[in-house]
Amino acid sequence: MSPLRGSHGFLIPTQRLYAGLNNFAPAALQSCKSNNIRCMPESYILGIETSCDETAAAVIGNGERLLSNVVSSQIATHQPYGGVVPELASREHPRAIVPVVRQALAEAGKNYESIDAIAVTQGPGLAGALLVGISYAKALAFALEKPLITVNHLEGHIHAVLLEEKQKGNFQIDFPLLALVVSGGHTHLFLAEQREHGWSYVNIGRTRDDAAGEAYDKVAKLLGLGYPGGPVIDALARHGNPRAVKFGASQIKHSNRGTPKAEQTPYDFSFSGIKTAVLRYVELEGMRESVIARQQALAGIGKPTTEIVLKHCDKKTLDLVASFQRAVVDDLVGKTLQAAEERDARTLFVTGGVAANSELRERFTLEAAKGGLPVYFPSRKLSTDNAAMIAAAAFPKLRAGDFAGADFSAEASLALR
Ligand code: KG4
Ligand code: ZN
Repeated sequence: MSPLRGSHGFLIPTQRLYAGLNNFAPAALQSCKSNNIRCMPESYILGIETSCDETAAAVIGNGERLLSNVVSSQIATHQPYGGVVPELASREHPRAIVPVVRQALAEAGKNYESIDAIAVTQGPGLAGALLVGISYAKALAFALEKPLITVNHLEGHIHAVLLEEKQKGNFQIDFPLLALVVSGGHTHLFLAEQREHGWSYVNIGRTRDDAAGEAYDKVAKLLGLGYPGGPVIDALARHGNPRAVKFGASQIKHSNRGTPKAEQTPYDFSFSGIKTAVLRYVELEGMRESVIARQQALAGIGKPTTEIVLKHCDKKTLDLVASFQRAVVDDLVGKTLQAAEERDARTLFVTGGVAANSELRERFTLEAAKGGLPVYFPSRKLSTDNAAMIAAAAFPKLRAGDFAGADFSAEASLALR
């Protein structure tokens, strides 16, 4: 048995590392060259996701059959701080990971032996949080002699849409496809093309500062609305006047001069300016006292309902919230549809935590329809972080035999290509 030495120096017998590949003998793969995934015997991937503040595990059959999807959220831990505290996130994952994986297997009617591969998020995300999922997945793969697959978290969000479209029987996706991944950590535009196995991506837009979800969370914090900010602002915005407060459109100077063409991102976003504008409005309009009163009133309530939060919001606050959301939605929809038109995109995916937003969904649906562009979103459950999307994104890699060695580590800024 010839041993492999990982870059961290530990020895893995090659026989063990590649055991589990036997399930996907070349003959079986050959017969599927037509790209017809239904011709393979059903294979089960256990997905593990720990990139931020959710510990999640899921089992997916053949990349399209959702057998279980378990998410343990750390919202209660981070709520007092108004945002994710990386150190706390890293400490919470080890507590949750074993029960979460066990529950995902049990709900799927599977056990450790009856899964075919383990998929884990490698990045981007919080390094300490990613490492918990990666260490656990490596240990499982090694002990069970199953192949291990690494997945980019952003590709996971994109595959959440694909997974649910496949479940609806929609296999006809036209390329090039434009994907807006908009979450607490990212606001990225990817142009995707199909490859023999899986898709390839070019990043044509990204946030220069705060991600859209981050802006929601920071604005909610400075208005004393609690954490996470997205759902509460989404619910309050419909009670305010979105034209009450004027925010200038974010001005990004695209100094792509000198950047190789392939690396240029002409559709960049910026959301830190609008957050500062909200802060200045609060100060200029003398809203500080009402913010503190609201903060104190809501602090004692674990998970206040929209009705309770509404009772603590005056018209000025509701108008501000509605105007903030309108400005963010205008920017996301405007730039994305401009990119879609200029790059001749034939399909649009909008995904990530902020894709759960009602106004964003309505506006994209309306505006994309005007141009005849099909637009798809994940369900609200699969918009925010989960492991079903990780297991689904791993399926093309399983078919391609694209397995990880034991020497990879967490990559906090992993790029998607
Ligand atoms: O995808 P996700 O769960 O985690 C990251 O990968 O970052 O996204 C979380 C983000 C948070 O910033 C949260 O405030 C935002 O998604 N979010 C929303 C909504 N639901 C969650 N933003 C706007 N409207 C919503 N309904
Ligand atoms: Zn995410």
